[in-house]
Amino acid sequence: MGSLLGRILIISVAVIAILYQFVTKTIIFDTLGYGRPVSSITTFSNVHCQKVDELGLEACEDMWLHEPTGLLYMACSDSQSRTQWLPAVGSLNAQGRGLTDRVAILDTRADGPLSSRVKWITAKNFHGIKGDGTLNLHGMDIRADPHTDTLAILLVNHRPPFDPITRQPLDAAIVGANSTIELFQTTVGSDTMVHVRTFSNDAIQTPNDVAWVNDRAFVFTNDHSRKTGWRREFDAVIGGGSIGYCDQDSCNIAKDTDICFPNGIVRGYDGLFYAPSSITGEVKVLSLNGNRVLSEVASLKIPMPVDNLSVDKNGDIFAAGFPHLYEMTKSFKDPFRVSPPSAVFKFYKKGAGSQRLEKGESHAGPKYVVEKIMEDDGTVLPGASSAVHDAETGRIFLGGPMSPYITICETR
Ligand SMILES: *[C@@H]1O[C@H](CO)[C@@H](O)[C@H](O)[C@H]1NC(C)=O
Repeated sequence: MGSLLGRILIISVAVIAILYQFVTKTIIFDTLGYGRPVSSITTFSNVHCQKVDELGLEACEDMWLHEPTGLLYMACSDSQSRTQWLPAVGSLNAQGRGLTDRVAILDTRADGPLSSRVKWITAKNFHGIKGDGTLNLHGMDIRADPHTDTLAILLVNHRPPFDPITRQPLDAAIVGANSTIELFQTTVGSDTMVHVRTFSNDAIQTPNDVAWVNDRAFVFTNDHSRKTGWRREFDAVIGGGSIGYCDQDSCNIAKDTDICFPNGIVRGYDGLFYAPSSITGEVKVLSLNGNRVLSEVASLKIPMPVDNLSVDKNGDIFAAGFPHLYEMTKSFKDPFRVSPPSAVFKFYKKGAGSQRLEKGESHAGPKYVVEKIMEDDGTVLPGASSAVHDAETGRIFLGGPMSPYITICETR
């Protein structure tokens, strides 16, 4: 008996030690980033960045560039309200939610002061909450019609929850947000967008980002396994979250195994989907099957947690990384005083252009090349969750979910 207890004890100690090695150490160093050195932006001699903090472009979590015109679409909020209402990080005080979240357009290639080049889009035909027309924005994707100047905008909308029968507010801290995905239609450069429909479905649980599949279907990430509750607390450690698929008729979960905090998903020019983990920095490369299921065909590793991905005109994929996720986490409570560091990575398939094989170091295994484009200790980059590259001008635009400003960087 004594020896059995002894053995159990030894095994337990061993298990704890192994857990420390693989789980705790991974979380403390790789995920949270304690002790990870961060370069200053000044070490990237070709990169020159400008903070844009006077235009009210706050908390612009997601950005999309209209390649032909250089119009940059941004899903913005206000930093203060995000400390109260950002379901992705468990901030669930619906009373404090933003009432002014909007999509902005910046004409990035025009001349003249930036202030003369910003436009705010008004939503038309959108009921919002009890007729107030409000949105609570997060991820976004836009599809440009190849033949006309029509744009189809998908927006993740974190609505506060209401009892469907009594219409009384429910406690979001208990039931979670009532997150939906909204489809709007607009034309290039217009300052209005017309609501087409709301996607509200059991598969849309904790949506973070959306990506068009074609003009009738899209995929989206659920960043957590549940809206609220204890299982959610373990997502970062044992994995959780899923990727869903919707078309005009229905939505379903397209992948929910072997996934951990999936975030800003994009569709690459190769037709594959790239879904990064904001915990591990692993990017899953997924292929969509005819039966609305995503299967993993490859993966690559970015050496820190990453959030949104974006594709530029050349098909290169850009990712915003969090060198110190623990500081990013602090900024969710205090966006005006905490300036978390950011990094921007670019990756592409090896061999997708012969000269590319020589450039850059590969952390990514055989198929992909990963390059760090810039990094900053929080001086000028905005705790970025989104980095969009204009291949035409070489500029990179950065926004963050909490950041009181956006940043524009010249890279040539
Ligand atoms: C969630 O939003 C949808 C779409 O407006 C609505 O039909 C539904 O009743 C809402 N549910 C809750 C719990 O608020």
